[in-house]
Amino acid sequence: MSRKALIAANWKMYKTPAEAQAFLDAFLPLVAGNSRDEIALFPSPVLLATVIPACKGSNVAVGCQNIHFAEEGAYTGETSIAQLKAVGGTHTLIGHSERRQYFAETDEIVNKKLHAALKAGIVPVVCVGEVLAEREAGKTAEVLKTQVAGAFAGVSAEIAAPIVLAYEPVWAIGTGKTATPEMADEAHKTIRAEVARLLGDGIAASMRILYGGSVKPDNVSSLMAQPEIDGALVGGASLKADSFAAIVKY
Ligand code: 13P
Repeated sequence: MSRKALIAANWKMYKTPAEAQAFLDAFLPLVAGNSRDEIALFPSPVLLATVIPACKGSNVAVGCQNIHFAEEGAYTGETSIAQLKAVGGTHTLIGHSERRQYFAETDEIVNKKLHAALKAGIVPVVCVGEVLAEREAGKTAEVLKTQVAGAFAGVSAEIAAPIVLAYEPVWAIGTGKTATPEMADEAHKTIRAEVARLLGDGIAASMRILYGGSVKPDNVSSLMAQPEIDGALVGGASLKADSFAAIVKY
């Protein structure tokens, strides 16, 4: 089963509109015509009105780093899926470890967001990953299975096709410590087996699982060479156009 890779940039809480525009002026020509993999940018919502029109007609998709599960309402500080769609966004991250860690996002909330994204036709990139203490306690597989099963509660094989997963070991995020390609491959196998248990072998075989955590131009090729790794979710190294373009063109 060949899965089209997705190389994605999570800009977190970085860049002004002017900085985003400067990135795109440099980046889009560097990756123009690069159709081997899909490319997506996840900027802050404040930047969507700059980034989406600039990427229109290009090979670069744009999404949110987080969405709310409600259609609309009194949720100060949140972004609805309808708002994302109205400005032309097509993707969203869900359950990033920084959301789980700093904003108390639980598997239950992740699950509600996943249902809302699927219902609205937005491509969800659901993030899972263990913290260092869990890895050191030998609990990585258990944590990943719990997070995947929690995220997928009530999701049937009929509606699961658009889902993308991202394995981001929390200890590798922003630390310069990448999981070795073999460690990542092993975690991805665990995740895919859990997807197969929940949704069947067909969905599991076609679902893309990205790796995230200190992906850089000099380690992306060895990660992407692993059969279970179907793309990258890149933080720090996605902020500079030449660095992210080098990752896209690994
Ligand atoms: P870094 O690439 O900076 O480690 O961040 C990874 C990440 O959290 C992407 O979502």
